[in-house]
Amino acid sequence: MSTPRHFLGLDDIPASELRAILDEAHKRKKARAGLSKGAIDADAPCDGKTLALIFEKSSTRTRFSFDMGMRQLGGSSITATANDMQLGRGETVDDTAKVLSRFVDGIMLRANSHDTLTELARNASVPVINGLTDRSHPCQIMADLQTLEEQGRDLNGLRLTWVGDGNNVAVSFAHAAAKFGFNLTISTPQGYAVPGQELSLARGAGAKITVTENPMEASKDADVVIADTFVSMGDKDADKRLADLAPYEVTDALMSKADKDALFLHCLPAHRGEEVSASVIDGPQSVVFDEAENRLHAQKAIIKWCFDR
Ligand code: CP
Ligand code: NVA
Repeated sequence: MSTPRHFLGLDDIPASELRAILDEAHKRKKARAGLSKGAIDADAPCDGKTLALIFEKSSTRTRFSFDMGMRQLGGSSITATANDMQLGRGETVDDTAKVLSRFVDGIMLRANSHDTLTELARNASVPVINGLTDRSHPCQIMADLQTLEEQGRDLNGLRLTWVGDGNNVAVSFAHAAAKFGFNLTISTPQGYAVPGQELSLARGAGAKITVTENPMEASKDADVVIADTFVSMGDKDADKRLADLAPYEVTDALMSKADKDALFLHCLPAHRGEEVSASVIDGPQSVVFDEAENRLHAQKAIIKWCFDR
């Protein structure tokens, strides 16, 4: 049996494969124009396939986009929270992987710890997809890049600025910078930096990343400004985080430093008045709802890629 094709992180998938996934996402989105949301794509590439969707943490976008994505691809999905499963009572990840591999054709996991994801993938004989871990959120970034391209932006050389916490989403942007050739500036306060080993990994793979503590300086002439919550799922000390990160709110003043045609991205859920002002996220430069919709299209291309081997 061949090794399954997992989608665990943008760092370990070749740039040409990621490019092909994005192209497929654009193509499939266009092909659905005029169809109702529940209609099946003409080629139904996942006919007869079922994807398990397992959640250790909350989700709106990931849950609904994977479920609808499988339906549109002509397949089906089964959703469970880890607490519904014996996994939540101490059954090992290893045994869970082996058992689920006998029932379903693929597994999407949203995990507290990235180690849980890699252990699942090591022991599964079907593809495993990262639906967010404490380390990374690669499906999100594929949707974000699709959004920028459909806005007519060429990723190569584009100036993206991340402002706020150096979290899981920021790490996936760093990984993506090495694969898609955009320039990434990351602005975080002390104590909230993207982990040094992730920056080294991305830079070692060719990513052009600048790090600065000053968010205004970071946003100067940016083509895209990106924010995310200051308190990610599983983070402790919410009050301290909100206080430490408050100067990193993406406000109109900060957006005025960026290019006049700059776009604003946020993976959602958002907290208006914390990491972003309502006038920015609900304003003309924001493409956050296209970004949310593209979770569906990008993930369909990811699922197909996983099953295509
Ligand atoms: N952006 C994102 O992953 O959203 P959910 O947590 O709702 O899945
Ligand atoms: N950084 C956030 C992303 C949510 C989609 C979190 O991990 O909670």
